[in-house]
Amino acid sequence: MARHLITSAIPYINGVKHLGNLIGSQLPADLYARYLRARGHEVLFLCATDEHGTPAELAAAKAGKPIDEYCAEMHDVQAEIAQGFRLSFDHFGRSSSPQNHRLTQHFAGVLADNGLIEEVTEEQVYSKVDGRFLPDRYIEGTCPNCGFESARGDQCDNCTKQLDPADLIEPRSVISGSTDLEKRETKHLFLRQSQMKDKLDAWIESKTNWPVLTTSIAKKWLHDGDGLQDRGITRDLNWGVPVKRGDQDWPGMEGKVFYVWFDAPIEYIACAQEWVDAGKGQDWERWWRTDKGADDVTYTQFMGKDNVPFHTLSFPATIMGSGEPWKLVDYIKSFNYLNYDGGQFSTSRGRGVFMDQALEILPADYWRWWLLSHTPETQDAEFTWENFQASVNKDLADVLGNFVSRITKFCRSKFGEAVPEAGEYGPAERALIDDLTHRVARYAAQMEAMEVRKSAAELRAIWAAGNEYLQAEAPWTTFKTNPDRAAAQVRLALNLIPLYAVLSAPFIPDASTKILEAMRVDDTSWPDDVSAALARMAPGHAFEVPEVLFAKISDEDREAWAERFAGARD
Ligand code: MF3
Ligand code: ZN
Repeated sequence: MARHLITSAIPYINGVKHLGNLIGSQLPADLYARYLRARGHEVLFLCATDEHGTPAELAAAKAGKPIDEYCAEMHDVQAEIAQGFRLSFDHFGRSSSPQNHRLTQHFAGVLADNGLIEEVTEEQVYSKVDGRFLPDRYIEGTCPNCGFESARGDQCDNCTKQLDPADLIEPRSVISGSTDLEKRETKHLFLRQSQMKDKLDAWIESKTNWPVLTTSIAKKWLHDGDGLQDRGITRDLNWGVPVKRGDQDWPGMEGKVFYVWFDAPIEYIACAQEWVDAGKGQDWERWWRTDKGADDVTYTQFMGKDNVPFHTLSFPATIMGSGEPWKLVDYIKSFNYLNYDGGQFSTSRGRGVFMDQALEILPADYWRWWLLSHTPETQDAEFTWENFQASVNKDLADVLGNFVSRITKFCRSKFGEAVPEAGEYGPAERALIDDLTHRVARYAAQMEAMEVRKSAAELRAIWAAGNEYLQAEAPWTTFKTNPDRAAAQVRLALNLIPLYAVLSAPFIPDASTKILEAMRVDDTSWPDDVSAALARMAPGHAFEVPEVLFAKISDEDREAWAERFAGARD
């Protein structure tokens, strides 16, 4: 039994997330957390909403709400949808929490004490009409790189180049549209990441088992161009964590806040404090401080590839630079993108299926299965309605669902709703048990390695093995000439059902619970010994035929959904 800390990249507060966001961090993190718990490990699985930054402020303005009210509401909306998808967070926190305010200010203070923060006076765009500076997304203009006319102050959505608001051609205020802008001097704090380059480089180099997607992005940022740059960690905004040096005021920084990407990853730590303060757990330091026991913790982070630089370099720079014994991440699992039907999912354009809409159409397990079995691991993946229909109908309805219903119904009609007693296992049964023993070991190894697609493929093969056995042994035929032999076949096949439920629970938790209830099995322990696990339902054990587990998706439904989601969300 080991201790595992797991975090998923914390979703921005500005609206309900789409399925691409879900599979890019939260869902695979949940799969892993559920698997490790099933293996008896102690797990702390944390996520939160990322509530600062200009996208949050702009979304609140659009909704016509004060920012704090907007964030509180959207947090609850996101929390409820997360529950709908059965994301098993131990706590779903908020980056705007008092705990995160304090901790962010603490880190800034110790970094400054260690000479890793520089105060820089620089020119920023100021809008006279709006009476304020226009950081990041508060300003739009023409991209100096590609000529796109609606480039944002922090990034061009057309060519993806990272920008500085001062670079934009013909800039205008997103608040008022005013072009009456000027450059004014303002003071900001920079994290001297360049000072830590060698340390970060050595640390990344030591991570030889990390996915190439993760390390290649980190190395690019470390070595391309002029190498690792110092990073501005403050903004001229009202909403955010006020700039302080620990609990002291920071002269010259009054009225400024920390940049969202400085405080957001610190929320991973603050979230553990929130978890304790909410009365759900004890002793958060045991998970986060290596001087308080966290050196036995294995810490795994899940995120989309766009988040990798912040997690491989900036946040570790904060942790290492503090000189304090905080836990550093042990493994970073990163993902490519999921595309939607020939294009990209887009929050700003409302393109694709959003998490709330998905749950209106079908239960969580259908989405979880499709998304996890198509996780964009080695390359980008694509959601199409045809593919979704085919996977659900084949894997869930035909292979798993049909197996369960066929054998339980056959048993009911010939032997009643209890495990038949007669008959001995023969070579076919022993061969199946042997095959499953190997497959379950392979499945566990893939889950352990966070190979999500390969795990799904092995699980599907485990389900299929049951169908193949039934097909080959045909107890309905055997029964006519040798009912005792048919009874043995049915006994084994029935026992596959709880085995499947336990193995499948990390992917499809609701179906798993439903199956175990119908089979009246409480023992959900991991089948370390497959042969023993296949004796869980002893002869005479009563069960019920479960309701239909998965309904097939009809062509009409598929077409209607494809049409409903073709346009932008209203
Ligand atoms: N909100 C960011 C995104 O959705 C992720 C922040 S992760 C954290 O891309 F590390 F900063 F917390
Ligand atoms: Zn551009």
